[in-house]
Amino acid sequence: KDVLLLNGPNLGMLGQREVGIYGTDTLFDIEKAVGEEVADRGWRVVARQHDSEGEMIGTLQGHYGAVGAVVNPGALMIAGWSLRDALANYPRPWIEVHLSNVWARESFRHESVLAPLANGVIAGLGPLGYRLAARALLSVAAD
Ligand code: DQA
Repeated sequence: KDVLLLNGPNLGMLGQREVGIYGTDTLFDIEKAVGEEVADRGWRVVARQHDSEGEMIGTLQGHYGAVGAVVNPGALMIAGWSLRDALANYPRPWIEVHLSNVWARESFRHESVLAPLANGVIAGLGPLGYRLAARALLSVAAD
């Protein structure tokens, strides 16, 4: 069984992206961490990162067979309406993750158009948030 770990625009730069906000862990570190969390269940992580909304949508459409998804949409949280429609049709549980506490930042980050569709949202806990999201899937996703 696969868990989809889907990261959006600019998250491939983690480790060298505004490290004061996003920290020094790379996306590879995060992918490894999520893999550790779900290994005991026999789940495997399929990790994808895209800088464009269309590719995000294509990956979602291609992984309806996953047990669930952990999604950090990056700035697509703000106005990613097509991604929202794709998530509305996603047949598995999914958790929205943000490394930073978006409500402690600029007001344009305070509302996610995606969050109302998520099973849950984790923000502000850095890379730990991805681990917690994986644990949430262990509880809510069916094998
Ligand atoms: C982010 C928060 C977004 O507002 C921002 O555009 C990102 C990263 C986070 O993980 O904190 O790209 O999703």
